[in-house]
Amino acid sequence: MSMTSSIIRTYDLWKQYETEGHDGMALRGVDLDIGRGQIVALFGKSGSGKTTLLNLLAGLDEPTRGRVEIDNEDLGALGEKGRTLLRRHKLGFVFQFFNLLPTLTAQENILLSLELAGRPDERLARESLDLVGLAGKERRFPHELSGGEQQRVAIARALVKKPPIILADEPTGNLDSATGVQVLTLLTSRCRDAGTTLIMVSHAPNTCEYADRVLRMTDGRVFEEIACEGLAP
Ligand SMILES: Nc1ncnc2c1ncn2[C@@H]1O[C@H](COP(=O)(O)OP(=O)(O)OP(=O)(O)O)[C@@H](O)[C@H]1O
Ligand SMILES: [Mg+2]
Repeated sequence: MSMTSSIIRTYDLWKQYETEGHDGMALRGVDLDIGRGQIVALFGKSGSGKTTLLNLLAGLDEPTRGRVEIDNEDLGALGEKGRTLLRRHKLGFVFQFFNLLPTLTAQENILLSLELAGRPDERLARESLDLVGLAGKERRFPHELSGGEQQRVAIARALVKKPPIILADEPTGNLDSATGVQVLTLLTSRCRDAGTTLIMVSHAPNTCEYADRVLRMTDGRVFEEIACEGLAP
């Protein structure tokens, strides 16, 4: 029996894209077991399959073979509607290019996500911005915020629903290194406070210092690394 209960499990996960010219095999048998509350850094060269894996964990795409279980639910058995609901209630996302809606203010971006989860609560939206150090900037539009501030809005949006899992695909990839460190510190400390499981894709070796576990993807397979030992980016 393991010490922590599992919240993400995959069983022999394969993904083949329909492509011309080569076999399009992006995942080649991934078996993952992520414990509740773990903070995981996911490294790997461009094209190794990181985003593909996150998309399958989020139920945004379907595996060619194998199975994903989120919080003991089999994504394949849930159906499209069930997966959408699971995403709204159990998953938060942070992306490289922030993905805020440009015509909504910082606060409205967060409120929208709460509305979709059936809890439109303006005070909660404001508090979440306060939590990431953006009190006073609630009414700014994304283009009126710096890159680091936009990413903090995205983090607030991911955290506000208190999801058990946050998936972050290169959350600091579009920020300078000093801002990247701030955002990484914020994201990981808020997840630790809330007991949120976090998987963050990164190209920056220092990310491992914030993680409980380091995984590396190579050619569609996942390998466990001894945290921070002689890591290449
Ligand atoms: N929609 C798609 N259709 C066809 N092939 C795809 C598609 N998305 C990704 N691939 C291919 O699958 C492989 C894995 O891609 P993926 O985006 O998962 O890599 P990644 O590790 O996230 O890379 P990066 O660090 O550049 O973001 C690559 O060979 C890529 O070309
Ligand atoms: Mg990617």
